[in-house]
Amino acid sequence: MTTESPFETRLHRCQDALSDDETLVLFPSPNLLYLTGFEEEPAERHLLAFVTPGDFAIVAPEMYADQIIEETYIERVDAWADGDDPMAVVEDVLSRLGVEGGRVLLDDRMFALFSLDLQAALPNAEFGLASAVLDDLRIRKDEGELDALREAGRISDEASEAIRAMGAEAVGMTEAELAAEIGAEMEARGGDGFSFDPIVGSGPKGAQPHYRHGDREIRAGEPVILDFGTRYDGYPGDQTRTVVFDGEPPEEFERIHAVVHDALDAAVEAVEPGVTAASVDEAARSVIEEAGYGEQFLHRTGHGLGLEVHEAPYIVEGNETVLEPGMVHSIEPGIYLDGRFGARIEDIVVVTEDGCERLNHSPRTWEPL
Ligand code: GLY
Ligand code: MN
Ligand code: MN
Repeated sequence: MTTESPFETRLHRCQDALSDDETLVLFPSPNLLYLTGFEEEPAERHLLAFVTPGDFAIVAPEMYADQIIEETYIERVDAWADGDDPMAVVEDVLSRLGVEGGRVLLDDRMFALFSLDLQAALPNAEFGLASAVLDDLRIRKDEGELDALREAGRISDEASEAIRAMGAEAVGMTEAELAAEIGAEMEARGGDGFSFDPIVGSGPKGAQPHYRHGDREIRAGEPVILDFGTRYDGYPGDQTRTVVFDGEPPEEFERIHAVVHDALDAAVEAVEPGVTAASVDEAARSVIEEAGYGEQFLHRTGHGLGLEVHEAPYIVEGNETVLEPGMVHSIEPGIYLDGRFGARIEDIVVVTEDGCERLNHSPRTWEPL
């Protein structure tokens, strides 16, 4: 007796979620990885997987055929060689699967090039996005995914503490040098690279929420936003602490940091099954608004976390998605004072039966450790 791989189980759940006239077309992306275990960078060659309620096929360059069969449960690849017309193979596959039109749901990450090819091949189809079906599966994590996310969180936390313990030693280093140290600390603890380009935003750079890092030297008394994570078993960490390595920060920094910390706590307190994503955003936002900094909270409160660092559910005004156990998302309120400094604190939480589990535990204070 053979046991089904977790990826095959996901494929079957996805097929059960499709209506009779729906076909998913996937491209190298987190969606394809989620359903098959096959991981590849998006590229210019036609590599397209087709999922119908009762069938599956994958069209791939010949050079990938053995690899796909060896690495996944997939037993057949419809291959094409460089120099062939890949769309001729796609058309044969569509005809074998009986796909003539209906609703064709394209991978949200698919290049426009392939999307136009498919629209030309299926002129009678109505096109939509694969996320319409897949988000609902990917949004609730299974135990294996949660374990990987916990471990990614633990490694990121330990690296954060090690970096903060540098104290005055970090003063005079450039943001880029500190980013490299962060990478080394995570690697030494079993992390697999950065889950996204790390943010080391010192002084005024910290007022730009998605600044990355540069050649600016860290100064004493300056707030520094440290937002980074690593991957473990394919799943990312993402946490933020705003710290002062040495010396006394501006008085207003202490005030905004305390407000951001209160906003984080209020949002964590608000997370439980049955509440909407928007209500968690509101819990954080109202604390910051009441303190008079509403205009300086420049972004949503959070985002889901899974194979992708940003995915559903988005913790944002207007999102009526109801939270359920197994959903994972960030809570990352921030206040940004243009040209001066910023403060953000970010933890990842898992929605549980009666509230939430935090995946980050490193000190949320700004003081040197
Ligand atoms: N990578 C920035 C964030 O979402 O936390
Ligand atoms: Mn982050
Ligand atoms: Mn985040």
